Amino acid sequence: MASVADLLEGKKVCICAGSGGVGKTTTSAAIAAGMAARGLRVAVLTIDPAKRLADSLGLPELGNTERRVDPELFKEAGVETNGGELWAMMLDSKATFDEVVRKHAPDEETRDRILSNRIYQQLSAALAGSQEYMAMEKLFEIWAEDRYDLLVLDTPPSRNALDFLEAPKRLTQFIEGKALQVFMAPTGLAARVAGRGASVMFSVLKRITGVDLLSDLAEFFQAFSGMVGGFRERARRVNELLGDDQTTFLVVCGPQGEPIEEAVYFHRKLVEARLPFGGVIVNKVRYAGEAAGDPEPGELERLLGDAGLAARVEESFRDFRVMAERDARNIEHLAAQMRTRAVIQVPYLDSDVHDLDGLMEINRYLFATGAEEREELAASA
Ligand SMILES: Nc1ncnc2c1ncn2[C@@H]1O[C@H](COP(=O)(O)OP(=O)(O)O)[C@@H](O)[C@H]1O
Ligand SMILES: [Mg+2]
Repeated sequence: MASVADLLEGKKVCICAGSGGVGKTTTSAAIAAGMAARGLRVAVLTIDPAKRLADSLGLPELGNTERRVDPELFKEAGVETNGGELWAMMLDSKATFDEVVRKHAPDEETRDRILSNRIYQQLSAALAGSQEYMAMEKLFEIWAEDRYDLLVLDTPPSRNALDFLEAPKRLTQFIEGKALQVFMAPTGLAARVAGRGASVMFSVLKRITGVDLLSDLAEFFQAFSGMVGGFRERARRVNELLGDDQTTFLVVCGPQGEPIEEAVYFHRKLVEARLPFGGVIVNKVRYAGEAAGDPEPGELERLLGDAGLAARVEESFRDFRVMAERDARNIEHLAAQMRTRAVIQVPYLDSDVHDLDGLMEINRYLFATGAEEREELAASA
């Protein structure tokens, strides 16, 4: 089995991707903390950290910039950082979109017109895939500033991991798309619609709501049209970074059948898209514990002094063992399908992971190697 430290050798960008709820945010934070503890200057971009984790790392909800995690926290957790630094931020995708507009707007007037435009304000929050795209955008921005040895990107909690891969395409398609072309042409819809039936609808809307939707729309598309080229170029460079040698994708998944199948599928898509796959992390794995074995008949009852309770404990013990065996089979299937040895397993811990101590607990498995790892697994059982 592999260690994250090996998988990240020589890498500057690590993207933790996978379906929602499997532990992506936890894993990305743990990897970043673990690499910082190895002496690197690391920044982790989290998307939706659980409040307790964010609080305990001292992450403010707003700001959209990286903050250094207090080195005292490492000391308190008994971790020597060897000069490493951990920086973290929580993505604010609306603020990132605004920054992109600021960057690409040809002049101040256009910039202000877009940012204050009602259509833009609605769209930038609602646009399909905009959170995914903005995550990459922010990654690219920080990467371009070249202040860190390693960037770890958590990905949005979309149900489907593929949403992330398709985000740049969807966004540029929207921006370059038919809808815009039609609107932006001088003789396009915006111009024509003004004198036709649709204008009745717009003017009714305007009377009722007080919002001049038509002029908002026309203004939005007009102002945006000058930025299409910049957007396209930017998306191209973001894509280039995702496919670069210095980048690696770690697929995070759960050990149950469905998450495993999704991970296999996602891996195939990564390979098809020529994106660099690094390895897979199976989180929340249940272990039967070879050492423990089944309790002797009557042993539990003697220990617990209650036959009913003993029976229930025995039953849940058996259930757990069945699940553990199923997990093990699923993971074997995963490794075979992906044709990889880079499979890292993290056990289902007894408690939630919400601080640096918890992240370091996860790291005993993420960064374990060989014998050390087998010991950990035996001890956890
Ligand atoms: N190995 C683990 N053992 C126990 N709890 C875990 C483990 N990994 C993650 N968790 C918990 O599971 C929940 C979901 O994790 P999170 O990282 O936010 O998932 P995601 O980002 O994929 O939606 C969190 O409450 C986290 O503390
Ligand atoms: Mg998450």
